[in-house]
Amino acid sequence: MSAGSETLHADKERLRLGGGRQRIEAQHERGKLTARERLERLLDPGSFEELNLFTAHRCTDLGMDGREVPGEGVVTGSGTIDGRLVFVYAQDFTALGGTLGEAHARKICKVMDLAMKSGVPIIGLQDSGGARIQEGVDALTGYGEIFFRNTTSSGVIPQIAAILGPCAGGAVYSPALMDFVFMVDGISRMFITGPEVVKAVSGQEVSQEQLGGAMAHGRLSGVAHFVHPDEPACLDAIRALLSYLPANNMEKPPFVESEDAHNRSVQELEALVPKNPKKLYDMKEIIAVLADGGRFLEVHPHFATNILTGFARLGGHSVGIVANQPKDKGGVLDIDASDKSSRFVRFCDAFNVPLLTLVDVPGYLPGTDQEHGGIIRHGAKLLFAYSEATVPKVTLIARKAYGGAFLAMCSQALGADLVWSWPGAEIAVMGPEGAANILYRKEIKAAEDPEAFRQDKIREYREHFASPLVAARRGMVHDIIDYPETRARLIRSLDTLAGKREPRPAKKHGNIPL
Ligand code: HXC
Repeated sequence: MSAGSETLHADKERLRLGGGRQRIEAQHERGKLTARERLERLLDPGSFEELNLFTAHRCTDLGMDGREVPGEGVVTGSGTIDGRLVFVYAQDFTALGGTLGEAHARKICKVMDLAMKSGVPIIGLQDSGGARIQEGVDALTGYGEIFFRNTTSSGVIPQIAAILGPCAGGAVYSPALMDFVFMVDGISRMFITGPEVVKAVSGQEVSQEQLGGAMAHGRLSGVAHFVHPDEPACLDAIRALLSYLPANNMEKPPFVESEDAHNRSVQELEALVPKNPKKLYDMKEIIAVLADGGRFLEVHPHFATNILTGFARLGGHSVGIVANQPKDKGGVLDIDASDKSSRFVRFCDAFNVPLLTLVDVPGYLPGTDQEHGGIIRHGAKLLFAYSEATVPKVTLIARKAYGGAFLAMCSQALGADLVWSWPGAEIAVMGPEGAANILYRKEIKAAEDPEAFRQDKIREYREHFASPLVAARRGMVHDIIDYPETRARLIRSLDTLAGKREPRPAKKHGNIPL
């Protein structure tokens, strides 16, 4: 080796060590991996190709003159996941707290640009003290340039963020603009202002974990789509998520033939769905029976649990599933459920993932909290998202489908291509009790035995209207199918619709109610 290349190798080695052994140890003591260890776990072995290791800042203010920040506090490049190309960046907390200055931002923008040009996903592993104070407006502008790219990339390539340390202030908005946010219990923190500011402004005492920990965002705010107990589980889950997604919006998701027979009879479904519409059951059990190998990658498993969203495969086709969850709040649609499902529907539509909707919904949630919180505005998002979606849309009415919520859950009127119903379904303007109370209010009052009269009317209404037959006769339900044939019928639906085209009028963009 020549003297020149020896120096080069030594330089590279020094820079690859980031903030040095002591800081790497400190990172490990906190239960965290380093940026490079994370990339090693995320990417196929040996596939990482680094870019811009030598990038250096040009700041001379506040003690930065001559101070080296190895790699500028971020490791960037490309690699493969299951053999498919991705671009990545991983902030290196050991190098000046992974803070973002002008050059750090330029490195991130470079891989974002390459991901867009190559039409492949971008994955950002965040672990940073935020804007590098010494770099002032240069740092702020760096964030702005990332936000701009997040927005222009939206709907073109999948964008995935994992929060693996602090992510504070305006820095939170890059992950928020991406498609999926992963967090890890105990180490991830996201907030606009930390506990000290909260205390100074409102007097409220709150810990970092309570304010912006993984479960705070996984359960309460919905900012985090996935929460994992540790980093390896989180990085593995990113790999699993990508297996359902295409590389960009011009491609179809990967088709993965399964050993699970397409025509497998699913007899057990009938027993899983109680006939009494007031009885609860777990819709996840239904999905597990229907999906290839019983696998369901749930998105937002802790947030708005009255609706389920996630990815599965049916006969090898990647599908996005939206399903009411009767086990939680009876599967009612409320503000959070509307937001959660609308965003998921829009993601699937943007990336050519067919939608399977499983319906068992009593309606929109009544109440002043909901009305004043804007259920009209939020609920409208779901109508908009389904109507706007042009991917194959298959709907199965499992049991209740009442009122506006029946329409919202991907009805034929909103463009569902194929709507199936199980025989026990009730499709109506409202539930039989509500309908009887409204229609026969005066007669019930005047009756000799008001309760007996009311029950009689409920029965009458249920027999006449609360069945899938009326909707089937009107052509809103395309067939009433037996439980055991459901998997085969759904797979055939996806096969049939695989080449679906649905052009819409050209426009700049719609105006989804936000
Ligand atoms: C410059 C910073 C820094 C920052 C940390 N460091 N944050 N340097 N600008 N924002 C440096 C520290 O001085 C230290 O340098 C090294 O990074 C490691 O930080 P420590 O504080 O020693 O680590 P730790 O104790 O683990 O605390 C981590 C931390 C804390 C919680 C992130 O550093 C912190 O509160 N930082 C400030 C966070 C913040 O308020 N950021 C601005 C957010 S506003 P040495 O010299 O020891 O290596 C923002 C605006 C974005 O980001 C707007 C976009 C529109």
